[in-house]
Amino acid sequence: TKDEVILRRVLVLQKIDLFVHLAPEDFIWLAQRVEEVAYEPGEVICRAGDFGDTMYGIIEGSIRVHRGSEEYAVLQEGAFFGEMAIIDSGPRSADCTAKEAAVLLQLHRDQVLTFCFQNIDVLRSMMRVIADRLRGMV
Ligand code: CMP
Repeated sequence: TKDEVILRRVLVLQKIDLFVHLAPEDFIWLAQRVEEVAYEPGEVICRAGDFGDTMYGIIEGSIRVHRGSEEYAVLQEGAFFGEMAIIDSGPRSADCTAKEAAVLLQLHRDQVLTFCFQNIDVLRSMMRVIADRLRGMV
């Protein structure tokens, strides 16, 4: 049923580190809106230089963050990516490719920003992750 789908998705959303501080009603709000998308190994999710208004949470599998053959990171279940373009509407900073078969949750910019502004802990964890990633790039 529809309720079961929402409930399953809430459980999935709770795997994403960024959302540890969300209230139960926030999980339900998100669960009714996010989209789940599956990727094959090697499939490209976004490319450096592209514009996009989607952030991704990794439900299953792992994602390579790279520029061509230069690898910056491999992100695992529970991690998120695509947050930089959400914040400044600028071009994607890296290519993101499925390393293994992956299931991702897609979040639209408006959904992410709503939570950042409502919940200081979400904003704080996102800023912490961005600072850490930038440090890795210099
Ligand atoms: P964005 O620039 O929107 O799209 C590419 C994404 O790759 C970026 O957001 C981050 O989520 C991620 N990313 C970029 N650089 C790094 C890094 N050094 N470590 C981990 N993830 C990164």
